[in-house]
Amino acid sequence: MLSKPVCINDFEQHAKEILPKAVYDYYRSGADEQQTLRDNVAAFSRWSLCPRVLRDVSKVDLSVTVLGQRINMPICVSATAMQRMAHPEGEVATVKACGRLGTGMMLSTWATSSIEEVAEAVPSATRWLQLYIYKDRELTKSLVRRAEKAGYCGVFLTVDTPYLGKRLADVRNKFKLPPHLRMANFETLDLAFSKKDYGDDSGLAVYTADAIDPSIKWEDIDWLRELTKLPIVLKGILRADDAREAAKHGIDGILVSNHGARQLDCVPATIDVLAEITDAVGGKVEVFLDGGVRKGSDVLKALALGAKAVFVGRPILWGLAYQGEEGVCDVLQMLKDEFKLALALAGCRSVKEIDKSLVKRSPWVTSRI
Ligand SMILES: Cc1cc2nc3c(=O)[nH]c(=O)nc-3n(C[C@H](O)[C@H](O)[C@H](O)COP(=O)(O)O)c2cc1C
Repeated sequence: MLSKPVCINDFEQHAKEILPKAVYDYYRSGADEQQTLRDNVAAFSRWSLCPRVLRDVSKVDLSVTVLGQRINMPICVSATAMQRMAHPEGEVATVKACGRLGTGMMLSTWATSSIEEVAEAVPSATRWLQLYIYKDRELTKSLVRRAEKAGYCGVFLTVDTPYLGKRLADVRNKFKLPPHLRMANFETLDLAFSKKDYGDDSGLAVYTADAIDPSIKWEDIDWLRELTKLPIVLKGILRADDAREAAKHGIDGILVSNHGARQLDCVPATIDVLAEITDAVGGKVEVFLDGGVRKGSDVLKALALGAKAVFVGRPILWGLAYQGEEGVCDVLQMLKDEFKLALALAGCRSVKEIDKSLVKRSPWVTSRI
């Protein structure tokens, strides 16, 4: 066991040492040559902070309202599939940690704990369901109804996955769920991703091609809008024109995301397209960001460029692998403490005081240590 982690990378290092290789690879990998995977993190270094001084930062308020829910900090948990590969309690541990920190959790449809189990674990937690549109619309509809019934606060519809991106490590490892686990939101064996033989490919890529509807288009957003009164966020927007179109379809938010660099490689780092997207929607819908957020100053930069809150994916998995619920609390607390420090050092007493003047594009390119 390593000494106590002092940054998110320490948590990842620990996870790499203890997780089975195929699991660590599945969690860590991006698509193809992983150019975007590297850039999601590196791009934050291309933005500098311009702090204000002498502003009495003895008290700093981190709270924000996201989709109508007041939460303690603008750092939420993104959907990551199959969390029980990292810790036996998986998504249940994650929601407990979110409840303790007072922040929101997005549950993957491909979770290894069900919508209901996660709700029952912490009924009061702010929970959203990440959704795919399945070829089987009745199945899609039933997932939404289950989320409504179990008190979820919204739906994040993932729109960047008509097919699964090519993740080389998963193909090499012929990745599939360990036999004692299943995707808990599905009853039929095929949809639970427990089918035994996926040939020589990544099992998840074959599963996605079988189940997810690659023909979805803007009219299907209208279908979903009609289906539920829950707030809807489109997850996986990277262009200003798509963001404007989304706003026309009555959705409530946009998550600027490249799926943690796991879909199309060579797309921009999310932080680099955030400002043009927030400008494009002009406050009509809430804008969020995920991808490469690893430090409190990353959160500050994203908020300065217009995000209402950020979401983190992999750091939560590293926290789970470290110590289950306690480990996720440690990760979230670390990001919270770092963000609070960055906010105070930038001369802001609350999230409301963050504005665009706090960031500027660096004239030089730095890389992370
Ligand atoms: C292991 C893993 C599984 C993921 N599973 C899902 C998923 O089921 N649905 C989804 O919309 N996004 C999924 N994502 C993408 C995340 O929701 C999020 O966009 C991404 O992880 C953010 O980048 P970060 O990991 O750099 O924080 C997954 C990402 C990872 C790393």
